[in-house]
Amino acid sequence: MRVLVLGSAAGGGFPQWNAASEACMRARSGDPAARPASQCSIAVTADGERWLLVNASPDLRQQIEANPQLHPRIPPRSSPISAVVLTNADVDAVAGLLHLREGTPFVLYAGERILAVLDRNPVFEVLDRRIVPRRTLPMDAWFAPEDVDGRPLGLQVRGFPVPGKPPLWLEGEIGEDLVTDAEAGDVLGLEIVCGDRRLVWLANCARMTPSLRERICGCDLLFLDGTLWRDDEMIRAGVGTKTGRRMGHMPMSGPDGAMAAVGDLPVGRKLFIHINNTNPALLADSPERAELERRGFEVATDGLEIVL
Ligand code: MLT
Ligand code: MN
Repeated sequence: MRVLVLGSAAGGGFPQWNAASEACMRARSGDPAARPASQCSIAVTADGERWLLVNASPDLRQQIEANPQLHPRIPPRSSPISAVVLTNADVDAVAGLLHLREGTPFVLYAGERILAVLDRNPVFEVLDRRIVPRRTLPMDAWFAPEDVDGRPLGLQVRGFPVPGKPPLWLEGEIGEDLVTDAEAGDVLGLEIVCGDRRLVWLANCARMTPSLRERICGCDLLFLDGTLWRDDEMIRAGVGTKTGRRMGHMPMSGPDGAMAAVGDLPVGRKLFIHINNTNPALLADSPERAELERRGFEVATDGLEIVL
């Protein structure tokens, strides 16, 4: 299995368009310790030819151009992207679908609740359903993703609900009091298996649970929610009023943060992804990055390819 990090940043990317923070200024000035990062997504392949995208970020067009593995090879039009699986319906996970219009087929997989969100947004009808079939991801059951010709991609995938909340842009409709971090299927995690190798995707996760720890245990590669270093980071930076948990993200640090929650588990590589532009761990020369690496974690970077 080959895994390609297309984007490692959270919604907004790094630098974010309206952020005049020191970190974003450093990223804009070309500081090598503040590497720009696009919005969160990975691509996975078993055969090196046909790729499964995990989420479709608003930066997908640039991500395709930046990674020759995803360039079209067969004229006049084609794509190595054979399927896309969505693990939430936030803007940073679904807006890239709009880049994939123009009539090249692929299969779109998502959980029931996520598909329902797409179904009620007519803009996604730019993906003609006769060309881009939408398939419901079974919950907590293994399935073999296929290309549109019905040929299995050679991967086994199992989606499962993760503590999280409905998309930010639906909160107004749902009502502030009713937005919870329930395991209702608004946010999914994934296990992806190829041969004897297993990847676990937990890029959005409001809290760790015993059953999530069990899933993580023994995997070869873990992608973990790295949105914030501290729960109150955005409040302290003066750029938001919500804690990380209220936004559906557990912090990296602290006694109930992600590092403490999974640090003891046997895992091949532990990579943080979906990193917000306020998170000091984005900066290669920060004490937070040093601490994270000392504890056996890594920060995913755009273009990183991992062969498992
Ligand atoms: C999140 O992960 O919290 C969302 O992507 C936020 C957003 O949509 O801006
Ligand atoms: Mn996000």
